[in-house]
Amino acid sequence: MKRLLFFALVSLGVAATANAWANCRLPAEAEAGRSASNQCRACHGFEADRPSRPTGPNLHEIYGSTAGSRSDFDRYSEGMVGARARNVAWTDDTLFEYIGDPRTFLNKVNARK
Ligand code: HEC
Repeated sequence: MKRLLFFALVSLGVAATANAWANCRLPAEAEAGRSASNQCRACHGFEADRPSRPTGPNLHEIYGSTAGSRSDFDRYSEGMVGARARNVAWTDDTLFEYIGDPRTFLNKVNARK
């Protein structure tokens, strides 16, 4: 019985991670700073008083902040570091684009002079 429960939890976790990006739509990202779907919580914390986890930066008050600016997260991609250097701010538009397709968004941002 314990084993079955463990298996169920692990499969749920894996499925949530695999589907996280595919299922992201506007409501999820618009609410990112306040409430979070469980899919985001697989990697992100949202609590004010918690440090970032190795799986992803803490998203508390992400809305309006500069991309890639959590000082307690040291695993930002080159693309995200570039976005920070270009002062990309998280707004409705940028969050929507980023969550819809992170790589394309970061490539676009970093192509700017
Ligand atoms: C599989 C793990 C994972 C899941 C699931 C995930 N993220 Fe992330 N997220 C990351 C990582 C890792 C980064 C840093 C990306 C980089 O450096 O390019 C990130 C970065 C971000 C950022 C930019 C953070 C910053 O500091 O500027 C936002 C916003 C974000 N994610 C939102 C979301 C939302 C909303 C969801 C759920 C719909 C989600 N993420 C699901 C791993 C994840």
